[in-house]
Amino acid sequence: MLKNKHILIGVTGGIAAYKIPLLIRELKKNGADVRVVMTESAKEFVTPLTLSTLSSHDVAAGMFPASSSETITRGTWHIDWSRWADMMLIAPATANTVARLAHGEAESAVTTLALAASCPIIVSPSMDVDMWNHPLTQSNILKLRELGYIVLEPEEGELASGLKGTGRLPEIQALLQAVSGVATGARKDLLKKKILVTAGPTYEAIDPVRFIGNRSSGKMGFALATAAAQRGAAVTLITGPVSLPTPRHVTRVDVESSRDMYQSVMRYKNGKDAIIMAAAVADFTPAETYKKKITKREHNENRLTINLSQTDDILAELGRRKGNTKLVGFALETHNEIQAARKKLREKNLDLIVCNNPLVEGAGFGADTNVVTILSKRGNIEKLARMAKIDVANHILDRVVKLL
Ligand code: CTP
Repeated sequence: MLKNKHILIGVTGGIAAYKIPLLIRELKKNGADVRVVMTESAKEFVTPLTLSTLSSHDVAAGMFPASSSETITRGTWHIDWSRWADMMLIAPATANTVARLAHGEAESAVTTLALAASCPIIVSPSMDVDMWNHPLTQSNILKLRELGYIVLEPEEGELASGLKGTGRLPEIQALLQAVSGVATGARKDLLKKKILVTAGPTYEAIDPVRFIGNRSSGKMGFALATAAAQRGAAVTLITGPVSLPTPRHVTRVDVESSRDMYQSVMRYKNGKDAIIMAAAVADFTPAETYKKKITKREHNENRLTINLSQTDDILAELGRRKGNTKLVGFALETHNEIQAARKKLREKNLDLIVCNNPLVEGAGFGADTNVVTILSKRGNIEKLARMAKIDVANHILDRVVKLL
């Protein structure tokens, strides 16, 4: 199953490190070639000798391992190893390592390798329940997931501290299954597919200083781009102004106004298997943009009127000349949601429409979760529970996969 797969295991300093020697044995039995990198603290829990004996390779224990072995030959071993790996599993990942990964730090051999690696990375956190539940840990975990890391939920049960709760490293079989799933490309169901995603708000200039915008954070579109890339698609992400990092393996195009977004979408649309318009494109834009800043001095009456004109509907235009491309739109509705979304689906010639109501708790702008209903051209309606945007994204992509 894992024959000749190069698997890199990063071990950090948690009590669950005692499970890793057994995992290595199982991976080797399944044909994998395993190398181990560990932090200084991990050495307190499991010895480099145990890990090197079981993996049949020298272990990189610390940032500056002796470079005299068959596998550690040069000062740039971290680059050599990251290129060697087909995938990396960080287990157990302590709260400290999770935090450092989320911030791009390279202070240990494990985080350095993770930063250098371009292969899929599975992170299997294990820690005490309160450390796991801490909002900082949770936000770091979410950040990792949004960036395309695969995070295995820790299990519930008895913890080393004697407390009960979530924080246990999954059993060997579960780890093995996760590694096999990634190594054999189990969820690479969008391989060779080309997907265009739009995200974020647009800014419509009033004058050189001011604009009309909206509260879109871009998180839903970025989650879609992350998930699609993870599933093997070649993803182009056209985004309005947002403050989000570019997901791994995604080509990003930054735009500002609805006009820019229209032009970029038209430029990149050809040859795409699916286009997902998650951007909150302005429906109206100032009819004229003032060349100079509007001042009170020059407009001393107590009201100022700005005329707006309707923007071109990008999605409707795509619908008019869609060819074989599957089209997914979003609808933001505060009332009569299903009816209004169905109308948009039909009028814009879409295959799917994702409907959300910003007034529902846990949905809408800026939130890390969303509550959506997916409607299809064929009349199917799927109402999803409240879940992380990355999970919503995967549900939407499940539907896209079926259409392709
Ligand atoms: N959209 C677009 N171009 C625009 C406006 C919207 O492509 N100029 C896309 C959005 O990306 C989204 C969908 O169309 O996928 C939203 O449809 P829209 O009719 O704009 O819905 P609302 O913004 O909710 O507008 P309305 O106030 O008309 O309900």
